[in-house]
Amino acid sequence: MKLQKFFKLAIFACALTVFGAACVKEGPPGQDGANGATGAAGANGKDANETCKMCHTPANVDLIAVQFQYSKHEYGETALEESGNAGCSPCHTQGGFQDVVKRNVPATFTLNTTTGKYANDYNCNAAIAYGELLCRTCHSSIHETYTSTDLPKLTTTAPVALTFLGGKKSVNLTQDNGSSNLCIKCHQPRPFSFNNTKNAAYTGDVLDYATLASKPTDVFFDGTSAATIAQAKIVPGYRTHTHYGTVGAIVSGTCGIEFTGTMGYAQAAHVTKAACSDCHMAAMNGGSGGHSFNAKGNFNGCNVSGCHTGVNASSAKYWTNPRTAIQTLLNQLAAKLKYNGVEFLNRNTDSSSNLWYGLTANNYDGYLNVYDPATNPNGPTMNPAVFQNPSPAASWTADQKAYNLTLPVMKMTNAQFGAIINFQLCLREYSLGIHNLDYSKALLTNSLAIIP
Ligand code: HEC
Ligand code: HEC
Ligand code: HEC
Ligand code: HEC
Ligand code: HEC
Repeated sequence: MKLQKFFKLAIFACALTVFGAACVKEGPPGQDGANGATGAAGANGKDANETCKMCHTPANVDLIAVQFQYSKHEYGETALEESGNAGCSPCHTQGGFQDVVKRNVPATFTLNTTTGKYANDYNCNAAIAYGELLCRTCHSSIHETYTSTDLPKLTTTAPVALTFLGGKKSVNLTQDNGSSNLCIKCHQPRPFSFNNTKNAAYTGDVLDYATLASKPTDVFFDGTSAATIAQAKIVPGYRTHTHYGTVGAIVSGTCGIEFTGTMGYAQAAHVTKAACSDCHMAAMNGGSGGHSFNAKGNFNGCNVSGCHTGVNASSAKYWTNPRTAIQTLLNQLAAKLKYNGVEFLNRNTDSSSNLWYGLTANNYDGYLNVYDPATNPNGPTMNPAVFQNPSPAASWTADQKAYNLTLPVMKMTNAQFGAIINFQLCLREYSLGIHNLDYSKALLTNSLAIIP
């Protein structure tokens, strides 16, 4: 106790004694009792500083926090943008993620008997959906007991029901005690659902992807007239996409539209042998590895005992050849995905907004090549030709609406839409096949073969 504080307390105590004396008459002091036996020595107390130092040292938490500055989990902006959004926050905010894990929110689509429509259940409680993706997003127990069991305890390692498939399938990567499941819970694609409210049969349910493969020649969308547009389950727009986290689908070898073809859907060794953390949290190399979670330019994870030796950016067998093969397939598929000479896939030549810039010859970004003055204003300047938007927004100006009508209409088969999904999955997994070469190769090869 600080000396000054002690004196203040002492004065207060004296004042109390004086005040008490005025009310109760005190008798004479009694005699001192006999000395008691000496008690047993108490257990050794823990010095708080010592338990703190188990983690808070320059080599442990302090260092990890520095590595983490290079992680988009920390510096990315979506946690701020999507806070409070029940549908986006399960993957974009710390609070939202903790909430869906804690309540074990299912990834199903459930029929609302009042409206007669299906709705996606994968939502968090919006009131607590905020916070950047920091240490406590993945580590559930920091400062719970202040002992070594608090770290690296993970928030979840349970099998992940895939939201893309409306929870109809789960993935469970058991290597490294299931740590990849933690990553896939967020790094998974988002579902396509029957969302054309102009269709009399509109249900809102998750798309039946199997039909795309089983009935490849059926018309998926026909933008020729209002009547044909009203027959579609999904009206394609610029943002008709799988969302960003396609890595989880490819790494687990799921979610692809598996057209029957010459190539079987095999899985690469990485699917069962490597965990996300093996490659993404390897020994640091510059700003990659460790808790930066970056794999870019870091081959430390490949070159560990039991895996590879001497792999680097110029290794033909394990790096350049497989990546060139996937890149070639993506280029070929994009060139074939057309209607009346206009490409379905959007080119985006801006290296900052296109997260997949440089991966394909024409810098496709996985969005669709559809006019939209609000979400895709630069489409017409970046693509040789752009499709007419089948569903123009009321907020567009008269000029924008008139311009839209001058553009060519879009029509596509089930096979073409399925191939677009496969293109999105295989482009947006970023690694050009390193994640799961066999699966990416089969999806792209069989897609190429099935579309005219
Ligand atoms: C089991 C490991 C562990 C132990 C033991 C531990 N900490 Fe922490 N502490 C962490 C981690 C991890 C963070 C988050 C680091 C960050 O955000 O950069 C943290 C963060 C903090 C922070 C920043 C505020 C916050 O909560 O994020 C303070 C202050 C702190 N710890 C104090 C202590 C003190 C004091 C002790 C000992 C009584 C202690 N810690 C023991 C792991 C530990
Ligand atoms: C709570 C959800 C969540 C979990 C869990 C999660 N991530 Fe992420 N991750 C994200 C989001 C969201 C982003 C993008 C953030 C942004 O742009 O604001 C991201 C970004 C990344 C990036 C950077 C991508 C880029 O474009 O540079 C890597 C790499 C990554 N995560 C790997 C992992 C790995 C490995 C794990 C498991 C150890 C993991 N993530 C766990 C949500 C998550
Ligand atoms: C199932 C998890 C999940 C849900 C739900 C989700 N996202 Fe994402 N989102 C991700 C992941 C993972 C990434 C980062 C992937 C990467 O970069 O590899 C991401 C990336 C993004 C990005 C790109 C960020 C950048 O770095 O440029 C935007 C924008 C975004 N999401 C918006 C949204 C919006 C808006 C919603 C809700 C309508 C939403 N997300 C719902 C998982 C999700
Ligand atoms: C995206 C998820 C994620 C985030 C965010 C995260 N960690 Fe980790 N952390 C992991 C995983 C996964 C492991 C286990 C690594 C493995 O399996 O090899 C781990 C391991 C650890 C360990 C054990 C020692 C080690 O290096 O393996 C410590 C300590 C740790 N994390 C601290 C932190 C701190 C401090 C932060 C915030 C600055 C943080 N973590 C943020 C996923 C995460
Ligand atoms: C076998 C190693 C390996 C495994 C396992 C692996 N990755 Fe990757 N990952 C890579 C490589 C290589 C790249 C491309 C790096 C580059 O662009 O140079 C990459 C790229 C990424 C990216 C884009 C950002 C970046 O760092 O380049 C994300 C996000 C990502 N992986 C997430 C994951 C997630 C989540 C898992 C587990 C579900 C996973 N990865 C498993 C090797 C791996």
